[in-house]
Amino acid sequence: MRKKVLMLSASPRKGGNSDLLCDAFMRGVEETGGSAEKIFLRDHEIRYCTGCGVCNTTHRCVQKDDMEEILRKMIEADVIVMATPVYFYSMDAQMKTLIDRTVPRYTEISDKDFYFIVTAADTDVGMMRRTIEGFRGFTEDCLHGAQEKGIIYGTGAWQIGEIKNSPAMQQAYEMGKHV
Ligand SMILES: Cc1cc2nc3c(=O)[nH]c(=O)nc-3n(C[C@H](O)[C@H](O)[C@H](O)COP(=O)(O)O)c2cc1C
Repeated sequence: MRKKVLMLSASPRKGGNSDLLCDAFMRGVEETGGSAEKIFLRDHEIRYCTGCGVCNTTHRCVQKDDMEEILRKMIEADVIVMATPVYFYSMDAQMKTLIDRTVPRYTEISDKDFYFIVTAADTDVGMMRRTIEGFRGFTEDCLHGAQEKGIIYGTGAWQIGEIKNSPAMQQAYEMGKHV
């Protein structure tokens, strides 16, 4: 079965390190006959969850922005790739805002395979643990049947594009080939 792969790229920098790793992953998917859609979050309007609670009964957000369509795509995907830079030892605000806005229908994001792509200036993989834990709080603890399939650690990349010199590029490509 051909899997539907959805990539959520949360860097504010288009062509940034995590975004380049998304592209490498996507190349791997496509070269093995699959297809993937990448959503660059910054191109979309995704407002903060206001915690109003209306969606607890309606399962729809009262805010009319791009999140309704993104959430539908998450529900329809077989594979979800979540990519973020590390910002102060955590995921960035774009990614967290997206996760918060899944609340109207997060119970329908079930039985998905998940991949995480994380980039940071630090060269120590261990410093990414809080970011990974943040992802797992969403996938493992809140979603039904989520399977974590792989993580790309894009360490040692500070400037935009610096990740091109890293083995993480090849790792992302290879991972994409095996979704
Ligand atoms: C607001 C901000 C906070 C950051 N915090 C960290 C950090 O805690 N640890 C780290 O190693 N790098 C940190 N960085 C560096 C980025 O993680 C790094 O530049 C990364 O490659 C950016 O990924 P991107 O190009 O995909 O946006 C920070 C950068 C910014 C702008």
